[in-house]
Amino acid sequence: MTPVLEARNLVRDYHIPGSLLKKGKTVHAVKGVSFKVEEGKTLAIVGESGCGKSTLARMVTMIDPVTAGDMLIDGTKVDIASEPLSSDMRSKVQIVFQNPYGSLNPRKKIGDILTEPLVINTKIPAGERRDRAMAMLKKVGLEEKHYTRYPHMFSGGQRQRVAIARALMLNPRLLVLDEPVSALDLSVQAQVLNLLADLQDEFHLTYVFISHDLSVVRHIADEVMVMYFGEAVEYGSRDQVFDDPQHSYTKTLFAATPRVDVDAIRARLERRKRA
Ligand SMILES: Nc1ncnc2c1ncn2[C@@H]1O[C@H](COP(=O)(O)OP(=O)(O)O)[C@@H](O)[C@H]1O
Ligand SMILES: [Mg+2]
Repeated sequence: MTPVLEARNLVRDYHIPGSLLKKGKTVHAVKGVSFKVEEGKTLAIVGESGCGKSTLARMVTMIDPVTAGDMLIDGTKVDIASEPLSSDMRSKVQIVFQNPYGSLNPRKKIGDILTEPLVINTKIPAGERRDRAMAMLKKVGLEEKHYTRYPHMFSGGQRQRVAIARALMLNPRLLVLDEPVSALDLSVQAQVLNLLADLQDEFHLTYVFISHDLSVVRHIADEVMVMYFGEAVEYGSRDQVFDDPQHSYTKTLFAATPRVDVDAIRARLERRKRA
């Protein structure tokens, strides 16, 4: 089967211009990373702050061009530096950011936030746009009455639900989730993770799930890639990586994560599932 996403040796450098007193320099944020994600699966990317996770996310979502390497979406090579993206390709990959406070325009009503991707990328008429947005609100656990409200009237967890709904409006194949629950309370984290799992099943979504929190990753990942200073130091199935980490950095990372967190979250999620 053709993977939904394939990355071959992705590289991203940032050039920081110098000034009169300081020499310019180059930051090697991502140094040649390769991976594949099959349809319906979740690849978790873990690593400490600054290791290049968000840089990778911006390349995969075609927000930033790659410095080198190839990226294939459903087997088609994409390179935004050399040709403009088709709206079809643009629709295939969507992103949800960590901070639901910053990622939603405070001046726009939820309905406008949700229908905007349809206005920009499709010719769907207004009535149908509204219907689709209403339906999506319900899919993410919100209500029709929320359509005319503003982002500030929602809690963090609800705002993240809106961000997820917006990301799904164009029926994407791949969702890149960059620390989507890191800013939320623990109990709300579990709810949003459950929602993401349900949506993945319903829409056959493929996820790239970025996190620095191993207890979350253990719960949701099929495969895990551990990044360290721009490189993938470990990549394998969840069980391989968690049960038998090979790289010394992964071992250190795991040793620093209290095991009790994992069990507590798992128990909570199971209780919710039964309820
Ligand atoms: N726009 C940018 N300009 C210059 N350097 C950047 C930029 N974005 C990220 N970096 C640098 O690239 C490295 C990786 O950052 P990032 O991808 O944000 O890591 P993470 O998401 O894992 O915390 C860091 O050293 C960061 O300072
Ligand atoms: Mg980041």
